[in-house]
Amino acid sequence: MKNYIKPDEWSIIEEGFDPQHHQISESIFSLGNGRMGQRANFEEAYSGQSLQGNYVAGVYYPDKTRVGWWKNGYPEYFAKVLNAANWTIIDINLDGEQLDLANCVVSNFRRELNMKQGYLKRNFSAKTANGKAVEVEAIRFCSMVDDEAAAIKYTITPVNFSGNITLTPAIDGDVVNKDSNYDEKFWDEVSKANQPDGGYVLMRTKKTGFEVATGMKFSLLQNGQLIQPQVEAIAREKYVASAITVQAQQGRSISIIKYVANLSSQNHKPENLVANLNDTLNRIVAKGFDTMLAEQAAAWAKKWERNDIIIEGDVSAQQAIRFNIFQLNQTYTGEDDRLNIGPKGFTGEKYGGSTYWDTEAYCVPFYLATADQKVTRNLLLYRYKQLGKAIENGALLGFKDGAALYPMVTMDGTECHNEWEITFEEIHRNGAIAYAIFNYVRYTADEAYLVDYGLEVLIAIARFWSQRVSWSQAKEQYVMLGVTGPNEYENNINNNWYTSTLATWCMGYAMEVIEKVKVADKAKYDALAARINFDEATETSRYQHIIEKMYYGYDEKLQVFLQQDGYLDKEQILVKDLPKADRPLNQKWSWDRILRSCYIKQADVLQGIYFFEDRYDLETIRRNFDFYEPRTVHESSLSPCVHAILAAKLGDEARAYEFYLRTARLDLDDYNNDTEDGCHITSMAGTWMSVVEGFGGMRVRDGKLSFQPFIPAKWSSFSFHIGFCGALLNVKVSKDGVQIKNTSDKSTTVVVYGREQTITANAEIKVNIH
Ligand code: BGC
Repeated sequence: MKNYIKPDEWSIIEEGFDPQHHQISESIFSLGNGRMGQRANFEEAYSGQSLQGNYVAGVYYPDKTRVGWWKNGYPEYFAKVLNAANWTIIDINLDGEQLDLANCVVSNFRRELNMKQGYLKRNFSAKTANGKAVEVEAIRFCSMVDDEAAAIKYTITPVNFSGNITLTPAIDGDVVNKDSNYDEKFWDEVSKANQPDGGYVLMRTKKTGFEVATGMKFSLLQNGQLIQPQVEAIAREKYVASAITVQAQQGRSISIIKYVANLSSQNHKPENLVANLNDTLNRIVAKGFDTMLAEQAAAWAKKWERNDIIIEGDVSAQQAIRFNIFQLNQTYTGEDDRLNIGPKGFTGEKYGGSTYWDTEAYCVPFYLATADQKVTRNLLLYRYKQLGKAIENGALLGFKDGAALYPMVTMDGTECHNEWEITFEEIHRNGAIAYAIFNYVRYTADEAYLVDYGLEVLIAIARFWSQRVSWSQAKEQYVMLGVTGPNEYENNINNNWYTSTLATWCMGYAMEVIEKVKVADKAKYDALAARINFDEATETSRYQHIIEKMYYGYDEKLQVFLQQDGYLDKEQILVKDLPKADRPLNQKWSWDRILRSCYIKQADVLQGIYFFEDRYDLETIRRNFDFYEPRTVHESSLSPCVHAILAAKLGDEARAYEFYLRTARLDLDDYNNDTEDGCHITSMAGTWMSVVEGFGGMRVRDGKLSFQPFIPAKWSSFSFHIGFCGALLNVKVSKDGVQIKNTSDKSTTVVVYGREQTITANAEIKVNIH
């Protein structure tokens, strides 16, 4: 755990340069705009430890799977998001000496990620080995307005000398992925060119054939005046640069503005990439840095209008929640249904930048409430478009007749995970995809989605579950054998309560939606049934039979749902009694020992209770929470939020807050010593859920939003925005009461502490805090 980020409501600030923190900060201070993003690598050369990373959404490489023993059904490839051309480079040479903070005495170092306006700013003073002192200010951003554009303004002032300063802006396509399985480089050069005021490289990925053109244009200012210095073009394989030498005078600043564009063949015909790149560059150069920055601030102001959570009385919590919201918005903007949300977003390579169940189970609630409904619709369409591959994936494992098993990890619909216990067994992801459809429709009332897309996915998923269960002669019930639940510290278990509960819910929901769609548009229903050979009577009667005869483990003595068969045979030593030195288990214990232990990586039974809360009375929830929570090690960042929400539901405000704290500053404080790999983007949505569903007690019930708020003791108030079925609400919870403003033209009915109230358009209500 670290504590070097300065508290500030709107900015993430680091003061003083500590190389030990550099890679962590490279993650935390990352930038992105949904289309591209990058770690906060320095512009000038840095020979210390650094993880360089520039990413272009959706551009991936199928890196050949590496396993010790091949098993039939394994995916051949692990798709990974690629480190793409590095466009941040501005090398600095001071009279023949390279500026490199690893070799300088650095003072007044300050980095600021300004979340209100969406830029990264860095200031420092440095003295080189030869005694040259400079001051530097660098500002950069990835444009939210023009998502193929970015800009950097780098200003250097010689403090104690006059002489030649050479600034070398470059585009370097010769990059590597740290996680490459065979140390391969994934890009080939297609073309490159130097221009008098810039240059570009056009790269193509091996195997997948994506082409990405990355280009720059620059302008130079001395003491604020445009100058035309001497420029020397440099080119080598996959690399273009311009060495710009300026006669610098002591105390007079030199600024370079580097305009960047990054275009991919996903959005442009390959033959047009270079011409379109130049158009984009010319457009942003004409706009100018200051206008681009002003537009960036305006775009973020608009985002914050609907996204902001204001916490009064706790700066560190305020900073944390804004950081989470900021990173989620930098990662996914919902413009493109081919894109998704990698667990690390644009902040690192880990998890391959691919799509996990995290999207449906954790991110969907965030985007549903804080963005236009088309954003979540695009996340659902992403899966809809991959249905064919999910059916192929099911077929590969022996399922038939249109049964779909969505991949655990994917870029384009193909399964990319290669641990059998996850690929073949962590099948609950299928349920999360169905649950997201349910969530979307109850949130937006967009039932047309079910007619046009949703039902087809739901039937394919129901078909999978109906084939995945087995009939146990001994039990005279259906069982679900050989699964891995969300708790990945158990593999190949039977009757994981969560998976079985989700499976039958999926089948039930599919049947409910069939009825809805038949009423809404019988012709479309008939056409779909014919197209997918859906024999409604036979198939739904099997679903019904499974629903009625499914086996779920339950312990009569403890009166809790059993996470899986045999769970209680494990030695039951609680987490609090584990030696501190043994934690985290996944770094300290052998896998064998973990599998035999009772420790739970992340919410499992409790994840199911969270999804289907309305099925259980408070006492049932309490018993299960009290049993499973003390056995949970929360070694996935996705876990504490579910526990926070349930603790809040049970009225345990202090514990709800404690769980919230575990994720809110997870990356800012490097809680798990792993922020250097990248930030935990998908669990940031869980932090948001802890505030809104935990402290705000928000639920969707019977087509209405309901709230059961409380205020964490340290806060004096908090407020959040929610969009629901066309209405926009601002909910403020303070010690004096709960105030809900309807800021839209649509009247809506809410339930606060169990009492129903209508809030007409542009009106507000106030309720005393309970
Ligand atoms: C968790 C999974 C999650 C993945 C990516 C793993 O550690 O156990 O549930 O999908 O990380 O975030």
